[in-house]
Amino acid sequence: MHKILFVCLGNICRSPLAEGIMLDLKQKHNLNIQIDSAGTSSFHIGEAPDPRTIKNAKKNGVDLSQLVARQFVESDFDEFDFIFAMDQSNLTNIADLMNNKINKAQIALLTDLLHDNSAQKVPDPYYGTAQDFEAVFQLVLRCCEILTERIKNKRPLIHQKSF
Ligand code: 4NP
Repeated sequence: MHKILFVCLGNICRSPLAEGIMLDLKQKHNLNIQIDSAGTSSFHIGEAPDPRTIKNAKKNGVDLSQLVARQFVESDFDEFDFIFAMDQSNLTNIADLMNNKINKAQIALLTDLLHDNSAQKVPDPYYGTAQDFEAVFQLVLRCCEILTERIKNKRPLIHQKSF
């Protein structure tokens, strides 16, 4: 069984969206995986996802209303097999917590899953418009669908570790 963690800054916009979409795909495809999400910051610990993220996901048939934000902790490096970050600054924040330890987790950007290099990050929609939230949904969905195919076909989930 794969244990997968999605990471962003606040754990209220992008990573809970990835968690919710992946939980949906897990059910639809009967995937043997465990999924969670976390933020590198402490800004929103204990909060529900951002209302704009919840609303946009609901419009697309994904329920995020039960998710609660938590902060990334050092034990996540050993608890999870795969850690997918949303952007380069999330990766930098994760690297700062690593302390040169050997981790179980393989770490990469979520957008590394795209075959076509069409996006290098999942952009932060926090200060954006409703359109930005929809664009983030579609991008995260595309990445999660590729992740699902890789899991179903028993292919490597991460080709190139970020560090
Ligand atoms: P997220 O978005 O990292 O996708 O959850 C953000 C949420 C909150 C903040 C920044 C980004 N903030 O500065 O509070």
